[in-house]
Amino acid sequence: MNSKQVVLITGSSTGFGRLFTDTLARKGHTVFATMRDPGGRNAKNASEIRALAEKDSLPIHVLEMDVTNDASVERAVDAAVAKAGRIDVAINNAGYYLSGLEEAVTTEQAQRLMDTNFFGPVRVNRAVLPHMRRQRSGVLMHISSGAGREAYSYELAGQGIESVILQPGQYETPVFGNTVRAADEARTDTYGAVKEIPAKVNGALSSTAGNAQDVADAVLRIIETPAGEKQLRYVVSPQDFGLSEINALSKRVQTSVLEAFGLAADTKFRKGKAVAAV
Ligand SMILES: NC(=O)c1ccc[n+]([C@@H]2O[C@H](COP(=O)([O-])OP(=O)(O)OC[C@H]3O[C@@H](n4cnc5c(N)ncnc54)[C@H](OP(=O)(O)O)[C@@H]3O)[C@@H](O)[C@H]2O)c1
Repeated sequence: MNSKQVVLITGSSTGFGRLFTDTLARKGHTVFATMRDPGGRNAKNASEIRALAEKDSLPIHVLEMDVTNDASVERAVDAAVAKAGRIDVAINNAGYYLSGLEEAVTTEQAQRLMDTNFFGPVRVNRAVLPHMRRQRSGVLMHISSGAGREAYSYELAGQGIESVILQPGQYETPVFGNTVRAADEARTDTYGAVKEIPAKVNGALSSTAGNAQDVADAVLRIIETPAGEKQLRYVVSPQDFGLSEINALSKRVQTSVLEAFGLAADTKFRKGKAVAAV
């Protein structure tokens, strides 16, 4: 793989996405920093990123992308491919937390969360995969995305495309300020002392948060790891809490299921032949 890659990042206005943009571009990777409404609510963030790119001659292009909108996702991916000719890495980073007791989360809040955190990556991956499959190479990276991730990794390995999941622990970004609270307070109030749990969890997370640059450095290491040598999951966290153990166990279980179903060979990574730019 070309050592300088073309990377599309969702949710680049603030936090991790913005740090990934800066960190990868400073290493010479071309970054399409996508965000909602760069001409309106994110105008300040977009112009700061553009000014930085200009000042330090960084290969960064800001594009509009709302991951809840099919047309917006397709427009941004088309624009990136028209400009760079390819997309090597798609980082599904856009998302937010919803905090509260399960019962107090309204159906509408749950649907909205899924539309961003789960269907967002589905839209982005559907838009970039035709290009990656033509290239017979590529990386889908998921910053703690939901279900469907195993399927991507297994289905695409034979075509030279990797799917990886980065599981960040708690890091200092605007995420805690952007957290949506469960809206049904009447339900929350019936839970007695248990209703304090979400606030306690949020307090513990924000008071032990690490430096978000560690996550951006991990993303850089992952995308610069040669094709076929990447892990499915990476835990990057101030505290491990035994997560690596769960992942190792999950890997062993998945390997035996694949072997039992006779799928081990079909799901093994195979480097594809490079083809001309799209
Ligand atoms: N920081 C942590 O401790 C931590 C830990 C684990 C996982 N994460 C995950 O890491 C990801 C990035 O979060 P962060 O910590 O960097 O917090 P953040 O600063 O709040 O970033 C979230 C980003 O997602 C964007 N976004 C939200 N909805 C969107 C949509 N519909 N379309 C496009 N962009 C959208 C936001 O854009 P706007 O500016 O337009 O709102 C913002 O750029 C999130 O998925 C979060 O859940 C964070």
